[in-house]
Amino acid sequence: MTGLLIHSVSEFSDLILEALSLADARDIVEIGAEYGGMSALLADHCRARGGQFTSVDPAPKREFLDWVSANPDVRHVAKPSLDAFGELDAPDAWIVDGDHNWYTVYHELRQIEAISRRNGKPVLAFLHDVGWPCGRRDMYYAPGQIPAEFRHPHSFNAGATLDRPVLVEGRGFRGAGFAAFANVAGGARNGVMTAIDDFLAEELAQGREFGFAEIPAVFGLGVLFDMNAAWSAQLAELVLPYHQNKLLRALETNRLRNYLRVIEMQDELAARVVRPGAA
Ligand SMILES: C[S@@+](CC[C@H](N)C(=O)[O-])C[C@H]1O[C@@H](n2cnc3c(N)ncnc32)[C@H](O)[C@@H]1O
Repeated sequence: MTGLLIHSVSEFSDLILEALSLADARDIVEIGAEYGGMSALLADHCRARGGQFTSVDPAPKREFLDWVSANPDVRHVAKPSLDAFGELDAPDAWIVDGDHNWYTVYHELRQIEAISRRNGKPVLAFLHDVGWPCGRRDMYYAPGQIPAEFRHPHSFNAGATLDRPVLVEGRGFRGAGFAAFANVAGGARNGVMTAIDDFLAEELAQGREFGFAEIPAVFGLGVLFDMNAAWSAQLAELVLPYHQNKLLRALETNRLRNYLRVIEMQDELAARVVRPGAA
């Protein structure tokens, strides 16, 4: 992905930071840091309130590690999330933006709910990539780390398009070596949004009610929160105008179509390049 396509959860920072303030969140865990675009903002938020910012990412970029070295009050756990939970104290809020597949996100939510309940804290989680392409299609940074029974057939080279559930070889939105996508979108236990749906349905069956808002921009942001929290009504009021907002969805679909066209043109150009020595 290039700068042509904004993709960081930091694009939502105004909204997220306002939500964190109204929930008086002091200790925050971010799963998935990459370059640390959101991490620096979250660390400032925690610092100003005497709280702790913790990041979890097994393979962040060099820029993020340099920033961690320069900010010794930041705690970084260099492990996949599901191996890191045992080392985490219960924070007041979570940013979930690591491995975007059903197995990982469902189990992250299970852990988040269990840790929060054990410590008497209401759940507040911001989950990225609830929209296309990962909402209903697994993506794997490290497919070998997902148990075989939860891992869908996948490809590093075939890409996703907006109008077909099946990946297209050598075309469309693809991981290009850094991540694989499930060959087919939809169906059971496939994708980030499906993991959230399954978690919420199970919780509701146990009599536990969560609020959930889906903001259909920049690959989709989910805001999941405990309805019993003292601040739940204020948070609901904040996120409601964005929830499944038709204008945002239309703009997101438009930018994705434009970006897919850019990828198509890049692919056409690459196919036309005459390599040295070729006839
Ligand atoms: C999309 S990037 C995160 C972007 C960042 N949150 C932002 O908005 O700027 C995903 C990151 O998750 C990390 N990651 C992959 N698998 C993970 C896992 N199982 N647990 C935690 N992080 C993971 C990757 O190394 C990558 O840096």
